[in-house]
Amino acid sequence: MSHHIYYLRMIITGKYPNLRMRRSRMHDWSRRLVQENNLSYNDLILPIFITEGKNKKIPIKNMPGVYRYSINNLSSIIDKALKKKIPMVALFPQINNKLKDQFGSEALNENNLVCKALRYIKKKYKNKIGIMCDVALDPYTSHGHDGLFKNKKILNDETNEILIKQALIQAKAGCDVIAPSDMMDGRVLKIRKELDKNNLNDVQIISYAVKYASSFYGPFRDAVGSKSALKGNKKTYQMNFKNSDEALREISLDIKEGADMVMVKPGMPYLDIIRNVKNNFKIPIIAYQVSGEYSSIKNAIKNKIIDENSIIETLYSFKRAGASSIVTYFADQIDLNLFN
Ligand code: PBG
Repeated sequence: MSHHIYYLRMIITGKYPNLRMRRSRMHDWSRRLVQENNLSYNDLILPIFITEGKNKKIPIKNMPGVYRYSINNLSSIIDKALKKKIPMVALFPQINNKLKDQFGSEALNENNLVCKALRYIKKKYKNKIGIMCDVALDPYTSHGHDGLFKNKKILNDETNEILIKQALIQAKAGCDVIAPSDMMDGRVLKIRKELDKNNLNDVQIISYAVKYASSFYGPFRDAVGSKSALKGNKKTYQMNFKNSDEALREISLDIKEGADMVMVKPGMPYLDIIRNVKNNFKIPIIAYQVSGEYSSIKNAIKNKIIDENSIIETLYSFKRAGASSIVTYFADQIDLNLFN
């Protein structure tokens, strides 16, 4: 019997409607009672841009509310994160252009910006907040790519040899979570082995396992100064956004190689991927609501096209899809007690 006829018969027999979905939506207490997902500050990771110099807090183009901080100004933003009980921050350096070269040499300087920031934060905050750092060469290369660039190609294995050194240097400086975002093949295993060999077996790895070649990274690339430098695109190493099964192969490989958590990136255009990963693997998934998403939402709010509640709505979409936590530039700005 078709549904139409079934309901029609119920109306006729006076039984309709015996099921009213609106009943549980009628009162606030009742809506809370049947709520399936919860978002708390425990679910958020705050990205922080750092810059050279002293007493700096520099706005970032197209990212109102987000700044680059010099190391001596970092406590203003980290104190804010601590107060909200945000468990972890992610550091992204913008280094002086003069320090960039084709090999990304500055990435291997134990006294580079990110290492100095790591030592500063660890000394001041001990283990009260986790610190995550990207492993990739793009903030350090003159060509803006994540790996070594030779004869118009990004070299995989040669890049990995540098990445393992970069990971080791960052871990030694105090990084709690190493996050390779370079998309080279085989780097998670190599990094894990290198860390273990150096008695850094407690350092975790979040693999940017599924990272698409995306238009949504624009404001970030401006923020770390790699946008104008970038030659070509990243399609030979970041994933094709037309693919979804391939994401599962990437995840399974990185789990085998020793990743503790996996990342899916960007965020909102890839909720289907997060759900697919969640259904197929039992590993914490981190969603990254990237810079272009932040800028778009922020801009729409500024122009009164949508209201501020939209932010929380987007963050819940990640929770529904199956993410354990979310990297978001909104982390320090939102008040979860106000909007829920
Ligand atoms: C660098 C890196 C990028 C982002 C995080 N790490 C940019 C890129 O791959 O070009 C993007 C983050 C964002 O847009 O917020 N490997």
